[in-house]
Formats: sequence, structure tokens, C-alpha cells
Amino acid sequence: MEVIVVERRQDAAALVADAYTALLTRTPTAVLGLATGSTPLPVYDELVRRHDAGDLSFARARAFLLDEYVGLPADHPERYRAVIERDFTGRVDLDPAAVVGPDGLAQDLDAAGRDYDEAIRAAGGIDLQILGIGSDGHLAFNMPMSSLASRTRLKTLTPRTREDNARFFDGDLDRVPTHCLTQGLGTIMESRHAVMLGFGRAKAQAIRECVEGAVSARWPASILQLHPHATVVVDVEAASQLG
Ligand code: F6R
Repeated sequence: MEVIVVERRQDAAALVADAYTALLTRTPTAVLGLATGSTPLPVYDELVRRHDAGDLSFARARAFLLDEYVGLPADHPERYRAVIERDFTGRVDLDPAAVVGPDGLAQDLDAAGRDYDEAIRAAGGIDLQILGIGSDGHLAFNMPMSSLASRTRLKTLTPRTREDNARFFDGDLDRVPTHCLTQGLGTIMESRHAVMLGFGRAKAQAIRECVEGAVSARWPASILQLHPHATVVVDVEAASQLG
């Protein structure tokens, strides 16, 4: 696991965008793993900037999302498929049909999880997976004590996650979904290159535990210590508790 500490988030964005540029130059048909949330936004903005400058094309690439709420209608603006389109994929030349997330509207949600892992496998696996670490060390919706070997599956959202996310549903807890489909930690570990970002003091303890602590389900992102090609990019605040 390589840890890179940068002064500013824009520096992290440039660095990670360089990894995308190298990958897409080498393999225009690359398979990208995308995360929602605030952390990757500077990276997405930098990728859009390079795309608009004519330096980068996603036209032949494909993308898989990390997770999706269960039960939100197809046209709901907070579906992660809609969020990623606003934040990134709809701003570049990625084919909308080539961007997929777990099917949170499936009748059989257990089968939908299995099908999602199979779709990733059938696409040849994820070449570059971007990840944002949660302040408790979660990755995707793999909260503390999630199995380190888990696959894409149905999960119940914790009360804290639902409260944290209520701001996206007009502050109305009753409107926040109760379940999600999330890539498992085992699924994430199969990506060829995993890039985990952490910004700000609120992520400092999680970064310390996941980078320097024991590999443990208590801090889910610690599993990346066992990933053959993981890069952790943090700003000085998030790195402030590293030894
Ligand atoms: C995103 C995701 C989450 C976030 C994490 C950090 O698809 O599944 O794991 O990456 O909650 O969120 P932010 O980036 O908003 O701090």
C-alpha cells in the first residue's frame, strides 16, 4: 500500500487524474469503478477539465458504481446512478449505457448482488477503483464489522448512516431508504488498482487505523493493506495522525 500525502485537494485530484489518463491512454476500453460522496469530487472535476480540453476521452470506457439504495424510483434524484451522472459521467463522453450500478429495484435483491459481481467479472474486472473512506473506516456501505471477504449484497443501513444521509432527502428521515446494495470488500479487493482518498481532519483517525493499524473488520478499509496495488491519497489534515 502506497500512501501519498499532498498539500491540497487539487494536488490529489491532479495525481489521481494522471492515473486515469495513463490507464485510458493505454486501454481506452478500461473498466472504471466509481464512488459517490464528496471526496472524489475534485478528481471528477479535474477529469472533466481534461475531457473538455480534449486531452481525455471516456468514449470507449465502462463504469461500475460501488453501491445503490434499494427501492428509490428510477427517476429519483438521489439514486446513486443519478448522482454520479450529475457529478461526473454526464459531464464527459462516457456512454450512459456503459455506466451501471447495482439494481436497487430488483425483485430478487440477493440475486441482483450476485448478478452485479458477475457483470463486473464479465467486463473483465475493474481496472481502477476510486474510493472515499468514511470517518469510521467504511468503504462503500461496508460498515465496521462487515465481512472482509464480502461480495456485492443487500445491507440494512445503520441508523447513523440514515441520519447522516437525511440531508439529501430534505432532512426527512422517513424518506431515507432503509436498505442498499453494496459491493463487498472482497469485490473491491479484486479491482486491479484501488485508489482511496481521504481529506480533512474528520478522516484522520480512520486513515491512521486503516493504514497503520491491524487488518480488521473493525476498520473495513484496513483490508486494502492486503491489496496488491492500493494507493492512498490524503491531504495533510487526514494524514495528521500517521506515525
Ligand atoms: C460512496 C460510498 C461511501 C463514501 C464515504 C465517504 O459511493 O459508498 O463509502 O465514499 O461515505 O463519503 P464522503 O466522500 O462524502 O466523505
